[in-house]
Amino acid sequence: MLKDKKLAVLGAGKLGETLIRGLLEADVITIDNVMVTAGHQPRLDLLKERFGVKGTLSNPAAAEGADIILLSVKPQTVPLVVSEISDVLRPSQLLISVAASVSTAFIEKHLASPVPVIRAMPNTPCMLNKGMTGISPGKNASKEHTELAKFIFDSVGRTIVADEKHMDAITGLSASGPAFIYIIIESLAEAGVKVGLPRDIATELAAQTVVGAGSMVLETAEHPAKLKDSVTTPAGCTIDGILELEEGGLRVTLIKAVVKATHRAKELLET
Ligand SMILES: NC(=O)c1ccc[n+]([C@@H]2O[C@H](COP(=O)([O-])OP(=O)(O)OC[C@H]3O[C@@H](n4cnc5c(N)ncnc54)[C@H](OP(=O)(O)O)[C@@H]3O)[C@@H](O)[C@H]2O)c1
Repeated sequence: MLKDKKLAVLGAGKLGETLIRGLLEADVITIDNVMVTAGHQPRLDLLKERFGVKGTLSNPAAAEGADIILLSVKPQTVPLVVSEISDVLRPSQLLISVAASVSTAFIEKHLASPVPVIRAMPNTPCMLNKGMTGISPGKNASKEHTELAKFIFDSVGRTIVADEKHMDAITGLSASGPAFIYIIIESLAEAGVKVGLPRDIATELAAQTVVGAGSMVLETAEHPAKLKDSVTTPAGCTIDGILELEEGGLRVTLIKAVVKATHRAKELLET
């Protein structure tokens, strides 16, 4: 579906590189069909060294020759790059933007022709094919375009197609989420050290516990509260731990973290 398509990654920074790596590992793209751009030559040199990928500092040149254009510059740089590529893009291409905060309507408004646009919000575990991506089609994107975008992000993890009104919330939950979970893992590992475990063992125990608990939620489709109840024996040790979590306000803190990140996601285009 993708191997014979030409892909341009405009702004191949951290996320662009993550996606290239994930797609290569999933064996769904051919590096010879990929062209990357960046703001500065050293970035292109680094990507050439890492992947042998072709690069240019010209966004229009990269976009013109591609079937699929992945826009992965910072939200504040999107208006500039969209204005640069506006005249070269054609309705036969597909533009996928992973920029937080930038709506498909904004991009469509600044393009010279009715190019199909899809907004996607992946997260960094895409690097290990364990990503979570929300996808939302713009007004010119067909079912086939959405399927193609879904295929791309399915190859690096799970994908959901969502109404665009939810994209800032997806940004605040699953795109920012890995950072929140790393803090939880770090804290659990610290706790392990406090109760006498060597740090490397404590970190492995904590990380695999997060992986296992996440898999239980996804694979059993049980409500997390029910799964929690099944670990909690009357007068056992887990309930004592839960009491501490509730007293420390873990739930409210996590809810507020996602709410704040969602609000911030709405502002990124302007600031
Ligand atoms: N990081 C995440 O977890 C994540 C998750 C979901 C979505 N996103 C979205 O992905 C986008 C990129 O984020 P990031 O973390 O990958 O940022 P990043 O590492 O700063 O990458 C941005 C890249 O854009 C390049 N660039 C700057 N100006 C350019 C221009 N005029 N033309 C072409 N390229 C240009 C930069 O090149 P130089 O390095 O040469 O300056 C840099 O490599 C953002 O819109 C963000 O909202 C990120």
